[in-house]
Amino acid sequence: MNQEWNDDDLEQKVDLRLWKKLLQYTLKYRKTGTTFLFVAFGLAICDLCFPLITGNLISEIEEKGGNVDFAPYLWMYGCATFFLCIFIYGFILCAGKIRTHVSYDIRKDAFQQLQELSFSFYDTKPVGWLMARLTSDCNRLSNILAWGVMDFIWGMMLMATISTFMLIYNWKLALTILSVIPVLFVISVYFRKKILTTSRLVRKANSKLTASYNESILGVRTTKVFVRNEENLRDFDTLAEGMQNHSVHNAILSAVYLPIVLTLGSVAIAVILAQGGHYVTLGALSVGEVVMFIYYAQMFFAPVQELSAWFAELQMAQASAERVLSLIESEPEVRDTEKVLAKIAESGNDGHTAEIGRIEFEDVEFQYRSGPTIIEKMNLVIEAGQSIALVGATGGGKSTLVNLLCRFYEPTGGRILFDGIDYRERSLTWLQSNLGIVLQQPHLFSGRISDNIRYGKLEATQEEIEEASHLAGAHEFIMNLDHGYDTEVGEGGIQLSLGEKQLVSFARAVLKQPKLMVMDEATSSIDTETEKKIQKGLEKVLKGRTSIVIAHRLSTIRSADRILVIEKGKIMEQGTHSALIKAGGKYHDLYTEQSMRDIVRIDTVMGS
Ligand SMILES: Nc1ncnc2c1ncn2[C@@H]1O[C@H](COP(=O)(O)OP(=O)(O)O)[C@@H](O)[C@H]1O
Ligand SMILES: [Mg+2]
Repeated sequence: MNQEWNDDDLEQKVDLRLWKKLLQYTLKYRKTGTTFLFVAFGLAICDLCFPLITGNLISEIEEKGGNVDFAPYLWMYGCATFFLCIFIYGFILCAGKIRTHVSYDIRKDAFQQLQELSFSFYDTKPVGWLMARLTSDCNRLSNILAWGVMDFIWGMMLMATISTFMLIYNWKLALTILSVIPVLFVISVYFRKKILTTSRLVRKANSKLTASYNESILGVRTTKVFVRNEENLRDFDTLAEGMQNHSVHNAILSAVYLPIVLTLGSVAIAVILAQGGHYVTLGALSVGEVVMFIYYAQMFFAPVQELSAWFAELQMAQASAERVLSLIESEPEVRDTEKVLAKIAESGNDGHTAEIGRIEFEDVEFQYRSGPTIIEKMNLVIEAGQSIALVGATGGGKSTLVNLLCRFYEPTGGRILFDGIDYRERSLTWLQSNLGIVLQQPHLFSGRISDNIRYGKLEATQEEIEEASHLAGAHEFIMNLDHGYDTEVGEGGIQLSLGEKQLVSFARAVLKQPKLMVMDEATSSIDTETEKKIQKGLEKVLKGRTSIVIAHRLSTIRSADRILVIEKGKIMEQGTHSALIKAGGKYHDLYTEQSMRDIVRIDTVMGS
């Protein structure tokens, strides 16, 4: 499993700085917030009225016996209830409003961030991790930041008004009730730590489990073919068991915590009964007043319990908060420098020509995340309009080279220059808007084929789309589908074969008419016949453009201006096809080997 799971360390303390940052999401909604403060205060006053009315009524009955006029009490009760309803309505409306906005804002920020983060980020975070951030963690946080904060404000307000009122009415009884607070606090702090720790273990186990699901689902074919079902199940069992243990431990802690809070509340009420009864016998208090205090005590503990529940939730969400914030705050490794950003703000572009000119690799070195060196001191010049082909054994660093050129990663040593300017001094938008990429594993989005082709040029007409498809050799297969260009491709293009996906993504790149075209084994899953057709279209498309092609079949790159043989991160040979064949080196060997294989294949096909 991935080592990066340890990114939220168990030993970290509850981080106020973190919550302060997240609270900004709530504080943004000032107007609703202010309305809410008013509503919460109204609610607290209403709550305060009921015991007061009841207490007074009991005292009056105690005093006058049977001849009490109930009408004013009924009226007061009615009024208090009416206002209570209005305030509760306002309360739920405000909290709901804030919750929706906060939830939207957090998700938007997280999603935006995911789009901006560099490829290197995705190398270290499993998809399950990211999915959990965007779904359960975001949900949890927006709940706390809306309902939690609202409940906290309401609870504090209610407790403050009740304590003030009780202290004024009878400070001795009031102090009895209030003395429970510190005890409650100490217990809370104790449980807080414990619950926090187990909840983190649970969440950690949970995201491991999600990632395991994800990997198993994505790799279900491989699993079956290699008969790995049993072992996978065992791995899964271990993960699930760990999660179960932690969950049970967590549940026990929570189960112990709340009854203790409840017991404390009951003890406080018992003490009031004893102490209040004593005052009644002394004549210092009426029965009605004691009843009133019992009511207040009960009301007092309601928000305390509510708050402690939220508090537990807050403790649990600390881990979520850390992870969501770590996501929102992680800096993309590849991004525009301050200088470039300033220039864009000033003049709308990065201040250089829009053209893709001469490309130069100057002592370029690269390694993925402190891994081994993949590219070693590479020097390379590509003139504008040249077509370059990269060949060599798998793992030699061809894709890495292309990744560097596209600035998906930046060199860890040396420079890559466009027209003599380091590409880090230019904007990412400039480079990427000039770039057309076709990958071996192309990604299609769910939607129609035409939508997928249009992805690179949103304003393209149907004619343009079809023309691009013709050039890319995709038109024929698309027309053979039931709904032609309107065929739905399914999530990730699952309805199409890999070769078909490659053709669609090829059409997409052609439509964009990029100045720099990059193809990484783009035609690996396309049959030789279709490939030949593409070859013709390609020649038209690439005319006048700079192109870098990583070839799967060497026969397709014979016409390249220059062929580079890449091995172990180094350029071993370079030159035109004929020059390299003449030289009789590595390329010659690779080429004859492949040609032999092709001839053998054709022979067997013909023979059968
Ligand atoms: N995202 C990555 N993180 C770490 N190592 C990688 C990553 N991508 C490729 N590599 C490593 O870099 C080396 C070169 O890979 P690559 O450039 O894909 O070769 P090629 O395209 O020539 O087959 C390989 O040893 C591979 O294991
Ligand atoms: Mg590759």
